[in-house]
Amino acid sequence: MQTIEFNVNGRRVSGACADRTHLGDFLRDTHRLTGTHLGCEHGVCGACTVLLDDKPVRSCITFAAACQGADIVTVEGYQDDAVMADLRAAFNQHHALQCGFCTPGMLATARDIVLRLPDADDATIRHELSGNLCRCTGYMGIVAAIRSVLDARRAAAGVIARHAAGAALAEAPFTGFAVADEALGTLPHLAANTGAEAERSADRKGWSRIEGSFTVPYALDAVWAFMADLPAVAGCLPGAVLTEMEGEKVRGHIAIKFGPMSARFDGAARLQRDDANKRGVLKGAGQDSLSNSKAAGDIAYQLKALAAHDTEVAVDLQYSLQGPLAQFSRSGLVRDFVRRMIADFGKSVARRMDPTLSDAERNQAVRLNPVAVFFGVLWERVKRWFGAG
Ligand code: FES
Ligand code: FES
Repeated sequence: MQTIEFNVNGRRVSGACADRTHLGDFLRDTHRLTGTHLGCEHGVCGACTVLLDDKPVRSCITFAAACQGADIVTVEGYQDDAVMADLRAAFNQHHALQCGFCTPGMLATARDIVLRLPDADDATIRHELSGNLCRCTGYMGIVAAIRSVLDARRAAAGVIARHAAGAALAEAPFTGFAVADEALGTLPHLAANTGAEAERSADRKGWSRIEGSFTVPYALDAVWAFMADLPAVAGCLPGAVLTEMEGEKVRGHIAIKFGPMSARFDGAARLQRDDANKRGVLKGAGQDSLSNSKAAGDIAYQLKALAAHDTEVAVDLQYSLQGPLAQFSRSGLVRDFVRRMIADFGKSVARRMDPTLSDAERNQAVRLNPVAVFFGVLWERVKRWFGAG
């Protein structure tokens, strides 16, 4: 047991909790904030969503102990929130709730959409809401309510609203991701340095972005040649399996296990390389058949010689998750996890390129343990919370 202290709805609260107590239980059982609803308790339905330091998180998979010193807002704490006042009125007007079980989580996500994506259209709203499930299937009203708030804010800001009030939702059908070749789209332009930089630095609406880097003790040209070998590169990613390869295009699957979440994304990717500037982009899309979540992402990488036998690989990952796993994409824990995976990927590359190792020893690179990585990331966070990191 430990004593934790944080702000809930503007009030300082403290209490004892077990290390494994999740935030949802702590709020409901210790502070009687029962507006936070618990549905699946596996991070899938979104009913338990609250704001943690102004970002929506799933309280059923957030340890209460991890919230030391944080600001938390539950559905009971939005009295002075102007956006939430508009959303509440719009949810009433558009009949955006039936039993109301999903509503606290829907409202938290809706507020985040309104504040973060002021130009969101219907397709974007649906995409962003895809991590919140409504068992009454009231999505039409929910989307209409959020759109009406966005339209009103755009009109108030002097911007001509894109959508006439009451326009049929069918005008902007939700398409989702496909993994057909066409879905991989036009590859980012890589020829000119400035163009590529501009493209990579422009964050895409609704996408998450994580940057990281690693260094390998080999010459630039050798690392560049290795990175062209897609089966070898896939061998450095735990859980990745290539099933087809044709030129620059590959198909395959990758298994991911992160705490309570496990998924297997089947998909396709295409690699474009710029030999002159030693940069490349792997652009892919895939689907997890278990949760029915969809993902699309670009992994851009840039090589830089640090010394004759030292090369830095800078990685710029931009991705979008849609479906029950959508809200995982923006949590700090996931960001730490991905950065750790990038570092471990770098160690695997160095190991695979080591000419002094046998094939069997090189292949050990793929046996990284995602469970160990997950707990390693958690441990790093715990050390940071207690000022030891
Ligand atoms: S109860 Fe937390 S996501 Fe379902
Ligand atoms: S209104 Fe009943 S679950 Fe959404």
